[in-house]
Amino acid sequence: MASADSIPGNADLMSFAMPRGASAYSKHCASCHGAQLQGDPVRAIPNLADADWLYGSGRVSEIERVVLYGIRSGNSKGWDLAHMPAFATPHPYDLYAMAPLTPGDIEDVTSYLLAFRHPQADETAVERGGRIFHDANQGVCSDCHGFDAKGDSAIGAPDLTDGVWLRGDGSRQSIEDSIAHGLAGRCPAWITVLSPVTIRALAVYVHSASTRASARTLSAGGKRE
Ligand code: HEC
Ligand code: HEC
Repeated sequence: MASADSIPGNADLMSFAMPRGASAYSKHCASCHGAQLQGDPVRAIPNLADADWLYGSGRVSEIERVVLYGIRSGNSKGWDLAHMPAFATPHPYDLYAMAPLTPGDIEDVTSYLLAFRHPQADETAVERGGRIFHDANQGVCSDCHGFDAKGDSAIGAPDLTDGVWLRGDGSRQSIEDSIAHGLAGRCPAWITVLSPVTIRALAVYVHSASTRASARTLSAGGKRE
């Protein structure tokens, strides 16, 4: 009966939810998200134990919505507003027309992204990449990832400046691969598989792991890369 977001503040409800969440997690989620909720960048599966969210800001109710309906799950209430176009193909996007990018364009826009955290030797490539990033006819990256490239958690477009990568290791090669070949990760919908109580317990369990991790990051005084 309690609202999802009030549970973390209630010790009795937490001691009810946490063991149920932990056991359902290891049964249904660990095979993809990892035993320690650490994700798997090789398979583009996000870490659930950090404070970095594709969708929303990590509230229990937001996590619960993902678990109920999934992401690109085929469930009509699942998140499916956008995905990453494959810019090296003749028709990069299936939802609307978008111009492809040449290998040189992809190198330049990658230089622009790398420059957020690591100074690049070729500054003119960074400038060209910045123009592509903000171009309304080609690239259109800023439409989804935001003018400042910090992402848009209403459509699941990742922050491209924070050194946290959903797919790959943040190397030039792996960023170019994401831009060239696109990305459309899927998380299943659990509403037809698990009970509402188990789903809420899972959301509480994931929320608790992520808030413990962000407390550690804060006390360590920094971010990770
Ligand atoms: C088949 C693999 C798979 C399984 C099983 C799976 N997930 Fe996911 N999950 C994913 C992928 C891939 C994404 C990222 C989707 C995307 O790229 O937008 C994701 C995303 C999420 C997110 C959103 C994270 C964010 O940053 O916003 C949550 C929360 C989540 N999963 C929870 C769960 C829970 C809880 C379970 C178990 C009930 C589960 N997942 C089972 C693959 C899986
Ligand atoms: C239509 C919306 C859209 C456009 C346009 C778009 N992206 Fe994306 N991009 C996304 C989404 C959504 C994801 C996450 C996909 C997923 O979760 O599976 C993503 C993922 C990425 C990733 C992987 C990030 C990571 O953490 O691993 C990179 C890199 C990226 N985009 C760069 C770009 C660049 C550069 C452009 C322009 C050339 C661009 N995107 C244009 C929606 C978009």
